[in-house]
Amino acid sequence: MSLEQDILQQVASASDEAALEAVRVATLGKKGSISEQMKSLGAMGPDERKTAGVALNVLKDKVTEAIAARKAVLQEAQLEQRLGLEKIDVTLPARTEPRGTVHPVSQVWEEVVQIFGDLGFAVAEGPHIEDDFHNFTALNIPPEHPARQEHDTFYFSEKPDGSRMVLRTHTSPVQIRTMLTQKPPIRIIAPGRTFRNDSDMTHTPMFNQIEGLVIDETTHMGHLKWILAEFCKSFFEVDDVKMRFRASHFPFTEPSMEVDINCSWEGGQVKIGQGSSWLEILGSGMVHPNVIKAGGLDPDKYQGYAFGMGLDRIAMLKYGIPDLRAFFEADLRWLRHYGFKALNVPTLPGGLS
Ligand code: PHE
Repeated sequence: MSLEQDILQQVASASDEAALEAVRVATLGKKGSISEQMKSLGAMGPDERKTAGVALNVLKDKVTEAIAARKAVLQEAQLEQRLGLEKIDVTLPARTEPRGTVHPVSQVWEEVVQIFGDLGFAVAEGPHIEDDFHNFTALNIPPEHPARQEHDTFYFSEKPDGSRMVLRTHTSPVQIRTMLTQKPPIRIIAPGRTFRNDSDMTHTPMFNQIEGLVIDETTHMGHLKWILAEFCKSFFEVDDVKMRFRASHFPFTEPSMEVDINCSWEGGQVKIGQGSSWLEILGSGMVHPNVIKAGGLDPDKYQGYAFGMGLDRIAMLKYGIPDLRAFFEADLRWLRHYGFKALNVPTLPGGLS
């Protein structure tokens, strides 16, 4: 077999680019067979050199061409193979929207944290299972106080020392826990679960409250009124809301006020900031000196306000949800109707709802 045939056969049978490159090196490379023959031209006589030189150059061109052609074929084949492997079915449906939704309580929780965060409040937390001291006594509700009956408390069984833990009946124990661990000025909100043995259209045994507490040396009721008005406007996304402060009574505040906001019920839908009906949304007042003392602070030096709001309740009002019990039934149809898209994170600049 001639050198040419031999080389062309090698080129043709190279099964991948690496094998082809090996053939190129073995022929056209510095020490390749063709290059070696080129070197021997020098030892020839002029005529012989001319013929042999032309023949060698023709061979060199042919081999170069054959290698380039084979290379193109191999690359093409490789591309075909990749396209075959990496194909996608464009008729398949695009990725579907996530089916889960954010529960209105979670949404409103986040909204409230955003609003009060912007007003300089930090978020505080406390346990759901409380002792008698934090849930009652420290809040100026001593044993035998009638307020204990009003709370429809869930009690745990008696401990050997006769004391009983409770499921916290309000978020107010977080006031005590905060005062015992932080130094004034204190400015916190405490959203969380609360429990009372009560169930109807507007009451569930578990519900959510949000507590607010400000303690320093100068804060007074004017500050409380202002902060609540700011909150209501921001939360209900209205320019103005009328508020009514009604004298009330809580053992842990003095004076105490319940706060109503104005609304209209036109067309069976509640609209906040319009009309002449009133809706109660929270309890509040100036923190009672006994509570400040129980929190380890000097009531002659420190003062401040507290408020407690029903989180589920303001969610119902804002989003027109009629029945509180449905909040906790985990009915998928209800969740899809009243839930929020997972990526609609409420922010003040981006919009709350
Ligand atoms: N803890 C009260 C309740 O559950 C609400 C409240 C909190 C009132 C703070 C005044 C101050 O009804």
